[in-house]
Amino acid sequence: MAIYRILEIGDPVLREKARPVPKINPNIIKLLDNMADTMRDAQGVGLAAPQVGVSKRVIIVDIGEGLIELINPEIVRKEGLDTDVEGCLSIPSVRGEVQRARRVVIKGLNREGREVQYDAEGLLARAFQHEVDHLDGILFVDKARNLTKIK
Ligand code: NI
Repeated sequence: MAIYRILEIGDPVLREKARPVPKINPNIIKLLDNMADTMRDAQGVGLAAPQVGVSKRVIIVDIGEGLIELINPEIVRKEGLDTDVEGCLSIPSVRGEVQRARRVVIKGLNREGREVQYDAEGLLARAFQHEVDHLDGILFVDKARNLTKIK
């Protein structure tokens, strides 16, 4: 178990377009395990590999319904619109309203290299979209309205 340091806004890695994972090897498994430890330690609901300094297309999400790991995730369908408040572990103490698709279908590979697909709405759909944005160098503050500083 290891907890990574979470990069904060201003770090150039957060603005890079992350590279696809060509092959799932022990380093990717270790990355997934350590990302989960890091997300839980920080009490987040999602984490993308660039946030821990690894510019690869890997995300994890856990909104309290179990951990979902996706390698090379791709949103293949979006439906509806929904606006809600978001935050990000890389932008501490800031919240803002972001409009996103209400429902998404996302596919990717699990740690066994099998293709998996999730049909998500509400908070889970929002978390997937937020994390996939990280892989393209996009942060929620780029899209947010009514940004507020908390604490
Ligand atoms: Ni984030």
